[in-house]
Order: sequence, then C-alpha cells, then structure tokens
Amino acid sequence: MSPLLSNPHQDELLVEELLSTLTLEEKVALTAGKDFWHTTPLPSRGIPSIRLSDGPNGVRGTRFFDGVPSACLPCGTALGATFNPTLLTELGQLQGQEAKAKGAVVVLGPTLNIQRGPLGGRGFESFSEDPILSGILAGHYCRGVQRENIAATLKHFVCNDMEHERMGVNVMVTQRAMREIYLLPFMLAISIGDPRAVMTAYNKVNGTHVSESKELLQNVLRDEWKFDGLVMSDWFGTYSTTGSIQAGVDLEMPGPTRWRGQALSHAVKANKVTEPQLDDRVRNVLNLINYSAGSGVPENAPELHLNRTQDRQLLRRAAAESIVLLKNKDAVLPFSKSKRTAVIGPNAKTAVFCGGGSASLLPYYAVSPYEGIASQCEDTVFSQGATSHKMLPPLGNVMRTAEGHRGFTWRAYNEPPSEVDRKPIDERVLGESSIFFLDYENEALAPVWYCQAEGVFTPDESGLYDFGLGVEGTGMLYIDDVLVIDNAQHQKPGGVVWGSGTIEEIGSKELVAGQDYRVRLEWGCAKTSKLSPTGPVGGKHGGFKLGVCRRIHPDDAIAEAVEVAKNADQVVLVVGLNGEWETEGEDREMMDMGSQSNTLVSKVLAANPNTAVVVQSGTPVVMPWIDEAKAVCHAWYGGNETGNAIADVLFGNVNPAGKLPLTIPRRLQDNPTYFNFRSEAGRVLYGEDVYVGYRYYETIDAKPLFPFGHGLSYSTFDLSSLNVQTDDVVTRITLQLCNTSSRAGTEVIQVYVAPPTTPVKRPLKELKAFSKEFLQAGESKLVVVDLDTVFSTSYWDEGCEKWCSRAGEYKLLVGTSSAEIALEASFTVGRTNFWTGLTPQA
Ligand code: BGC
Repeated sequence: MSPLLSNPHQDELLVEELLSTLTLEEKVALTAGKDFWHTTPLPSRGIPSIRLSDGPNGVRGTRFFDGVPSACLPCGTALGATFNPTLLTELGQLQGQEAKAKGAVVVLGPTLNIQRGPLGGRGFESFSEDPILSGILAGHYCRGVQRENIAATLKHFVCNDMEHERMGVNVMVTQRAMREIYLLPFMLAISIGDPRAVMTAYNKVNGTHVSESKELLQNVLRDEWKFDGLVMSDWFGTYSTTGSIQAGVDLEMPGPTRWRGQALSHAVKANKVTEPQLDDRVRNVLNLINYSAGSGVPENAPELHLNRTQDRQLLRRAAAESIVLLKNKDAVLPFSKSKRTAVIGPNAKTAVFCGGGSASLLPYYAVSPYEGIASQCEDTVFSQGATSHKMLPPLGNVMRTAEGHRGFTWRAYNEPPSEVDRKPIDERVLGESSIFFLDYENEALAPVWYCQAEGVFTPDESGLYDFGLGVEGTGMLYIDDVLVIDNAQHQKPGGVVWGSGTIEEIGSKELVAGQDYRVRLEWGCAKTSKLSPTGPVGGKHGGFKLGVCRRIHPDDAIAEAVEVAKNADQVVLVVGLNGEWETEGEDREMMDMGSQSNTLVSKVLAANPNTAVVVQSGTPVVMPWIDEAKAVCHAWYGGNETGNAIADVLFGNVNPAGKLPLTIPRRLQDNPTYFNFRSEAGRVLYGEDVYVGYRYYETIDAKPLFPFGHGLSYSTFDLSSLNVQTDDVVTRITLQLCNTSSRAGTEVIQVYVAPPTTPVKRPLKELKAFSKEFLQAGESKLVVVDLDTVFSTSYWDEGCEKWCSRAGEYKLLVGTSSAEIALEASFTVGRTNFWTGLTPQA
C-alpha cells in the first residue's frame, strides 16, 4: 500500500449547519482533544477525529512506546543558517508528506521563539535571534507543509523564549519589544505562509497567561492580523475554562479535557461563556477538519515509513547548507580524501542529530560524523578523547538479542519475576534505551504489571564499565544474573521518564573485550514505585532508561587522542552539546561544553595544527581555544544526514555557505540577558528591550566572538556598484556580485537598514532582506533585492499603538555579515506613515 493514503470520499462538513444543530455537549466535546494526539470525533454527526503530530524538525507520529521512525530535518538554528527560503519550502513539503505517512494532518511546528540569550533549552528549535530572518523562513516552511494540505502550526505564541518555570513565569516586556522582536516573526510567517494553526505559549505575558490573553489572541492575532485558523493550547497549557474560551483558545490539548467537558457546559449554562463565543471556537475546529480533508489522510490512519532516496538527498543538501565555516586560516580546509585522517571527539562516533524534548524523534537512520568521513576517506582512525553525556550513553542499541538482532528482547508480564512460570503477554525486539510506556496499550495488561529487557552486550575494550538505570516504577539490573543495580528499595527522585522518575543509579562491572555478557532488566510499572507521581503525565505505566559507558580517566582519554592526532595528516575534532544539554523543560546553566571538551580541543590543536574543529550545538558555546584553531565549522544538529553533510563540507564536495543566524558571544557574561534570563520569583524582565542579539552588541560596540550573519566560503566574493531606487512602496537595491575565486560558490547578500535619529532610540541597524546567490567560478551577476519601503523603516510607536515609518534619510548597508558591510547608500522616506495590520498595505 502506498504510504500516502488517500480518502477522496470524506465529505466537507457544513460548518454553519452543524453549528445550528449540534447540542451543547457535542460542541463542548469538540473543543478539547480526545487523547494526546487526536481531536474528539462525533461519528453520529459525521465529524472525524484528526491527528496532530510534533514537530519542528520531523513528524514524530503518535507513539512514545515502540514508535515508527521518521525523517529528521536539521534543527531550527541549522535551518536559520541556510538563509534559504526556497529550501525551507522544500523541507516543509517533505514534512507535509511525512505527516501523511504518519496519518497526521496537523504538524506542530515551526517553532518561532527568539534566542534572547545562549542558554535557552529550546533555542535550537527556533530559527534565529532576528525576527525578520525567522519570520521569512517560517512563512516559507509553512507554504511547503501546506502544499500537501497539511496544516502548519506556529508555536509558541508568544515569548516562550526560555524553559525555566515555563508554565508560570510572567514575561515582563515592553510593547515595542513585543512588536518588533517577539510578535514580528509570527506576523511575517502568517503573511507569507498563511498557517492554519497557532499554538499558545505556556507563559504569562505582562501578567496574563497567553492562553487567557484576549489582547494577544483576539486583538492582535485575529482582529489586527485577520488570522482565521485554529488556536490550540500547548500541551497542558490551558489553565481555565471561561478565560481560555473567551480569549480564543479553540482547542485544549491534549485530551482528555481538564478544563472543558462538564465544566464548560456548566459555564455556558451559567452564562459565563455565551453560545456565540462557544460557536466561534467550534467553527475554527470544524474549519480545520475541512481544510485537512484536502490532504486525503483517512481517520485513524496507520503510521508508516517513507524514507525515500530523494528525501535523503534533500536532507543531506539541507544539512550541508546549514554548516557555517567560522574560520579557515591558511585555507586548511577543504581536507584531502586521500590523507590519513584522525576523527576525534565525543560527538564523532555518536550521531548527534537533534536536540531533546518534543522535537526529538526516532530517526529512520542517523549518520555519525565518523561514518560520514570514513565513507569518503579510506584511511581513518578514531579516538573519543572525552565524553559529553549527562547521563550514560544509550545501552539499548549496542546490545543484541539472543537471535542476533540489534537491540534487546522485551517481554511484558502480569506477574512479578518471583513467579517462576510466568508467561509473557507481549514480546518485542526494541532498540530504544529510554522507554516511556505512556501510550502502551494491551488489553491483557493487569493494573500492576512488569517487564523484562534482555540482551547481550559485547564490549570492544576491556575495562571497568558503568551501567545506568533510571526508572519510573522499580528496576533491578543484572549482568549474567548478578545484581548490578537496585533501583527499587531506596529510590531517589530525579529527571528520568519526563521528570516523573528517579535519578540514574549507577552500577559498575569489570568486563573483558570480546566476551558476551547477558544484561537483564527486571522492571515493575509506576504503581510499584516508592515515589509519588509527579509531572502532568506521571503515574501512568512509567518507564525506564538504560545506559552504559566504559570508565576511563579523563586525562588518559585525552592522552590517547593526542597520540592519534599526532600520527595523522589531518584531524577532524567533533565536539559540542547534544539533546541532553539542549532540551525542552530545562535551560542550560552555562555556555561551556561538557567537562573535558575544551581541554581536549586545546591539546589536540597543539598536537596537530592541521585540525578542523567541528562544533555541534543548537545555540552558542564558549570557544576558549579559538585563537589556536585554524579551521572551525559550526554544524548544529543536522538530522538524519548529519555525518554525511559534515564530511561533504570538510572534503569540499559542498562549498560552505551557512551564515550564523545568531551571535556567538565570547563569554556568557557578555550576552544581553545576563541579568535577566531565569524566572526570578515568577517573573522575567526582558530588560534588553529591542536590543536582542546583534542589535545589542552593536549598540554597546562590543565585538562578539562571531557576529550575526557571519560565515565563510571556500570561494571569495566581491560586491560593487550599489544602486538604490525608492518610492513610497518599494525600495529597489541592485548591486554587482562577483565570484573572484576558481571554485563555484554561494554567498548571502544581507541588506540592513540604519534609521535616522527618531524620537525613540533605535538599534544601529537591522536586517531587512537577504538574497542567497550561487555563482560559478569567476562569474559576475546583478543582484536585485526589493524592500517594502514602509515596512523596512518602521518601528512600533507605543504612544500611538501603531507602526511608524518616519520621514527622513535612511542608510542602506549591504554586506556578507552584520560586521562585514561592503557597500553603503541612502534613501529617503518622504512622509511619515502610521499603520497597523499584517502589512502596511493590508
Ligand atoms: C511542547 C510543544 C509540543 C507539545 C506536544 C509541549 O510540551 O511545548 O512544542 O508540540 O508538547 O508534544
């Protein structure tokens, strides 16, 4: 059967007719989910349930337990670095097709929040610190998704820019920063991409939770911007019955409802909510069902794989386009494929392909940097050099079953292990080490149930191995029937299983290389736990997390790597963060990489200067060794094709063209949110106001480590002959761009506007447009960029509560990064213009 299922027979719902005939209870039922991923159906009225699925970098499907794998796109900041709207549309369309394969009609992405500072746990999910770059890319991504009649969802509207106390924090922000920085990406994305859904943020803005804010949902989103799609709450982000309905949240997610159902019927009967108000919410739900019927996805469709050749090619191209060449002294890169290459680092053999939380998914496959490099270069050697994990790396997929399959054998039981003749009620081969049974269903399951996970582990090297076991429930880990970890008797609350479980308990054992060890976990469900359930989804079934790592003294690991580096012609050193450091629900506490990574980099650089450092992280890290490094690439989290894309850039198959979508400061203390990042007694002050990212560093004349928009190429370019023609509507910029090298390459022309002195202080300059240009070796071409004159000169006037484009002379600054401005010109705005709406012309 084709994975792109079709259901041409679904009739369009007659929305107004239904609104006049549905009962109060039926209408109320439609305003909340049925379960975690579906809306509530009304079969007797012909209203189907539709499926929603995360998220920004892949369509995860509905199953937490034993889910179906998916295509994984590069993370948000990686996509931001492409500066390529056309590519975003192609990737969006792939998301639409992946959604169809997963039977979903609503994609819960893109994420459009702003990286105010380097520490945001979900910073990797959003595109950029710049609202215009974010909004343009998001709009084009939505266009792609919706080409398939799959609804895109802008999230999280608005100001969910950090994770600390995300449900309760009150974001205190000026109206001007709200408009110019935080709302602008949503406004642009709506005007470009017409997304069919918006998800509210968890937090409060200026005293009111967004899911109860009439100001944001009704006045701005619907009345001013004329958004006519569906507004849903973030998961467990509805906090009231009347307030959320009146503000405009159409759909409470997930289900079953906590705030609607009987409570909402009661509120309508008590005239707290009027029927017309309820009808407005239901109308949007029904309209979304009608819209998504065009996708042809049937109700409750099975979840399937796509994983097509053309998708892999697209993902490889996208990941390579996202890589930013930060530094390339003495043209160290590209490397030669025929030289002896050492591949070193904690992120080298592990495929670090995406961040953590709801953006993470089970990939069809993930290519590690080592695999990517080794597939193009025969003479490669590896040394890990340092670790970068918080909890021990996964054990599941490095085991094999008794039959030789990768993973372990998993069996569910209704009796505890002490029952000698117990019979399994389910048996599967699994590879995931972190298992959450939230949606596990089995009719035979007793209220208190157990499972066993059994596999063979054969270490590559002899030594002392640490094993890790965290549970929600209880767990005992045995190796060759000897108990190594008891996580049942004295349980300590910790972070595993969505924060509802214990800490990771560690047990150690001396192992011999090449010998088989039988690992067995005996687990009891959440009801056997000694701890009380916590978190919104705690207490149901539970789960476990298994890890393993050979214990090696950090100094020995570095010494070994240094030896390997010395004996190689060239070194690729892959360091950075991963989905444990950058994840939903938790901000980073520091800007540094894991414990020994910086020491490893310094020592390897000293041992072999012919080294390319590849940094993987979604948001900035400190690089204390930067002056010693000749070549540095920033490679983000690149999705399935991570390793191939890194190899393509390092060996020059792809000429790098990525540009930083966010500033990399030298130190955490330098960033504009240093005093105002965490929630302090329930509030966070956006004290940097509109001076976010480069707007801040430029205003205080501080040189960051790498500026916004920076990114090198193996080619060189020359910009000349800037010409500007302006009228009230369009400002047309033309310039000559020449590839002055002997290699075909791509450059991103960035157009910034600097305002005249106005009654309010403004950033020195702001990005208003960009254009990505490919040129053959030696080619010269005319680049044309059009700006909307009024839009590109406007700021938010708080007194008038309108955008204002003030008459005066503006500077146009054109360059290849925010700090490398090659050409300047000016243009004049003849008369002051005030406007509201989605665009000045709307
Ligand atoms: C996240 C959303 C996500 C939802 C469903 C929430 O915790 O904030 O971005 O779409 O979960 O997984």
